[in-house]
Amino acid sequence: MTVLEIITYPDPRLLEPSEPVALIDEDVRQLIADMAETMFDAPGVGLAAVQVGALKQILVYQEHPEENEKSFRALINPVIVQSEGKYLSENEGCLSVPDLRSNVQRAAKITVKALNIDGEPIEFQAEGMHAVVLQHEIDHLNGVTLVDRVSALKREIYKRKVKKHLKAS
Ligand code: NI
Repeated sequence: MTVLEIITYPDPRLLEPSEPVALIDEDVRQLIADMAETMFDAPGVGLAAVQVGALKQILVYQEHPEENEKSFRALINPVIVQSEGKYLSENEGCLSVPDLRSNVQRAAKITVKALNIDGEPIEFQAEGMHAVVLQHEIDHLNGVTLVDRVSALKREIYKRKVKKHLKAS
């Protein structure tokens, strides 16, 4: 397994929707293994394929990040088919959006349909933090980042800060 480079805002690839995966072959399984390694190395609780530059509808996440073991779940072509309620995530962050943290309004409970790593269709519900991580990663697959989820003021300040930083480097 290889730790891959995580691309960061304003890389234009982060704004592109990812393509559905038609075939789960050895390349896809290798990408998933590398994504998991990259997530644990960062460390983070979730990672979408676009964050390592692969525009494929794949995400990995830790279902129980509080448990100190390297177990993860991978979802292929995930879709939120139902969402209910409201949940304000606290201090949400993103490995591709360094130095931006914000509370974000999310759904409290979601139903997700996807394929597992064996290509079998699965459907399940998630709540609270678990649902936040999935909504955040599925956003990535639709070309949406944390920058799009914060207030207009916070977004402007962040964009200006990034521009200034890019000019300086
Ligand atoms: Ni992210």
